[in-house]
Amino acid sequence: MSEPIRITRATVKKQKPKDSELTFGTVFTDHMFVMNFQEEKGWYDPRVEPYGPLSMDPAAAVLHYAQAVFDGLKAFRGRDGRVRLFRPQKHVDRLIQSSNRLCIPPLDPELALRSLVTLVGLEKDWVPSTVGTSLYVRPTIVANEAFLGVRPAKSYIYYVILSPVGAYYPEGMNPVKILVVDKYVRAVEGGVGSAKTGVNYAASLFAAEEAKHAGFTQVLWLDGRERKYVDEVGTMNIMLKIGDEIVTPPLSGTILAGVTRDSALTLMREWGLRVAERPIAIDEVAAAARRGTLEEVWGTGTAAVISPVGELAYKGERLVINEGKIGKLTRKLYDAIVGIQYGTAPDPHGWTVPV
Ligand code: COI
Repeated sequence: MSEPIRITRATVKKQKPKDSELTFGTVFTDHMFVMNFQEEKGWYDPRVEPYGPLSMDPAAAVLHYAQAVFDGLKAFRGRDGRVRLFRPQKHVDRLIQSSNRLCIPPLDPELALRSLVTLVGLEKDWVPSTVGTSLYVRPTIVANEAFLGVRPAKSYIYYVILSPVGAYYPEGMNPVKILVVDKYVRAVEGGVGSAKTGVNYAASLFAAEEAKHAGFTQVLWLDGRERKYVDEVGTMNIMLKIGDEIVTPPLSGTILAGVTRDSALTLMREWGLRVAERPIAIDEVAAAARRGTLEEVWGTGTAAVISPVGELAYKGERLVINEGKIGKLTRKLYDAIVGIQYGTAPDPHGWTVPV
């Protein structure tokens, strides 16, 4: 029998922002989902509570050794008024994979899915309706055992918070300028690059700040060993159209298995396009740009969905893509994915889960 989720409702409700005021990740809803883990009990006491601070011992393992994972998915309000989660099961699976890598005890996938559906269901009124806005769902697990030795913790908190959001990048669908970095790396083979864990993001900040100061929106990461192959763009997976081939780096352990990446690859293969998951040398990209065959470049991720890249700067050279404008395929992919998310296009893969 599935475990019941206890619900305590907030007595005071917050004011909801207007769709036009939404940015990314600054406003949170009235409730959150919480569940605890202790070695001797397993995961226990799944509940919805009023949104509020977590109480944690200053010695909690996560605050010292970063034993934590998270994921990010979205709920959309369709033109028909219905709310749908986009591929929640895939996000739950990834959260469990990330947990395994960080020695965090796995959640029961059925209960994890129910935690998302229950919380979003309770907070339905918070799901904005303008295209480009959504309710961002952030499941997180942190080690909260008060212990300063280095080993997997014996207690954890799983919680889910919700944030109504607009565009991730202020540029929206305007192509971004990206700096290719070879001084810093995001991940190395055998590391935690394929896990959604905060340390990957903390490790990215220094390079991203340098890029920002130099006038770029984000960085393009190269592989950690040779600094030769394209890895990820900012916090997103990268895709490039070179001539009539669409290429993206393979899931070799250093990059995140993006859900939008998977959705885009599935759609493009169905459209009969030539798609390859293979290593792509940055020199190949630069040569294609010089030849005029680097037709389109875009990032894929849950937060921004599709983010067109208008320029790559590498070793002082500026590689302008499609005259800095959004490409045809980039636009088609965005429209196709967004159409499914908002329920204006058919969903033959069953990617959306009504709430
Ligand atoms: C995404 O959804 O693309 C991300 O990984 C960004 C998120 C960490 C804000």
